[in-house]
Amino acid sequence: MNHNVQPAFENSFKGLSRRDFVKYLLGGSALSIASLNKLNASVYQSITSLNQKYIEDESPDGIYWDAVSKHFLFQDGLIMMNNGTVGPMPKPVFNTLLKSFRVQVTNPYDVYSYIPRKKEEVRAKLARFINASPDEVVITRNTTEGMNFVANGLDLEEGDEVLLSTMEHPGGTHPWRLKEKRYGIKIKNVPIGLPPKSVDEIVDGFQKAITPRTKVISISHTVYISGLIFPLKELSKMAREKGVLVLADSAHGIGMLNLDMKELGIDFFATSPYKWLGAPTGVGLLYVKKEVQDKLWPTIASGGWDRYENARKFETLGQRADALTIALGEAIDFQNAISKERIERRIKTLAGYLKRELSKIPGVVLHTSKDPYLSGGLTAFHVEGVEPQKMVNYLREKYNIVIRTIGNKRAGTYGVRVSTHIYVSLKHVDMLLDGIKHLAQHRS
Ligand SMILES: Cc1ncc(COP(=O)(O)O)c(C=O)c1O
Repeated sequence: MNHNVQPAFENSFKGLSRRDFVKYLLGGSALSIASLNKLNASVYQSITSLNQKYIEDESPDGIYWDAVSKHFLFQDGLIMMNNGTVGPMPKPVFNTLLKSFRVQVTNPYDVYSYIPRKKEEVRAKLARFINASPDEVVITRNTTEGMNFVANGLDLEEGDEVLLSTMEHPGGTHPWRLKEKRYGIKIKNVPIGLPPKSVDEIVDGFQKAITPRTKVISISHTVYISGLIFPLKELSKMAREKGVLVLADSAHGIGMLNLDMKELGIDFFATSPYKWLGAPTGVGLLYVKKEVQDKLWPTIASGGWDRYENARKFETLGQRADALTIALGEAIDFQNAISKERIERRIKTLAGYLKRELSKIPGVVLHTSKDPYLSGGLTAFHVEGVEPQKMVNYLREKYNIVIRTIGNKRAGTYGVRVSTHIYVSLKHVDMLLDGIKHLAQHRS
């Protein structure tokens, strides 16, 4: 089968006339606010009745997950295994986004007056979702912004040291590079294994690198290159004893893992809900622990930055795309309807199966740990003798499966990365495995 690998953007709207498209966005009768509300209610009703029937159903391909997967919006036949880059929205989130934009377009004035209350509702939901206080939640635009807020907002002096790992995303390194150039701080890179052998190996590496000048450890919670879930709880404990602050880049964390800020004991935590939580792009979250808020200057200042005595002082950004924030609230509702414990279990079950089966294929080298404590929904690997880009192209062409290349040759991390979210089935994973087996058998 030859799939249209990169359809033109316009093709996504094929079949809709210009008039229909405008009607779709601004609400003809089929998409009135009342009908969007009704559509959402029916999704939640279906999940509630599934929850009642399938309390114990954790099998990857049960009726439960099959039904849940139908609540996502996909082009026909697309098998999305790269939500690690950008994820799909469940239908209720898209409906709420449409609804919010529609209200905003048709009555900007009333929206303007109720947005602050809506925003506080979303902040409270976010706080409950990650076990934090609403006073510790900053609504940002994405992880990169959160990382910049922290790097920029801490008072560090020339010669102060910041520890990073060797596998940070540019959104996690460059805020510190800028500070290095501007203020003469020092960045030290601590190597982590591909994959590391244990929690102790990772934490010891950072502990050994700490000197009296070390002020911050800034690391990926969800390592985008290797799929490692960094043992934040253990690292934070060690760092706290040494008086070092910890900032986590958890771009993939929200929606993939059952997050609990109190348990992690972290100081700062930045995340991007459009990858695994199903929120739209353009809205993110930064957690700033209450006890460290007075160490952090706001980066953006408008009315309130010097008045709020909580995390709201870090987001005095002026007018924003509030529909995105409201849709973020809906994304949390959707995950809560299923439960974040159940979602993490499902994601890890699929990834565990994928890793077990990959290990049986000659030539496959896993970059991701098999330990479920040190891994989540991202699985990275390479096949000896097979170009990673060739794997990506072959899987898309043959099965319409989307994965991506990751890492780089020089660092020895080059390979592919697969994301296994809740709408992926065991059958989809088997198709992927068939493709990999075929390529491994025909390698040069
Ligand atoms: C680990 C990690 N950090 C940061 C980012 C940047 O995220 P954003 O573009 O949402 O700021 C990504 C994006 O993929 C990532 O994987």
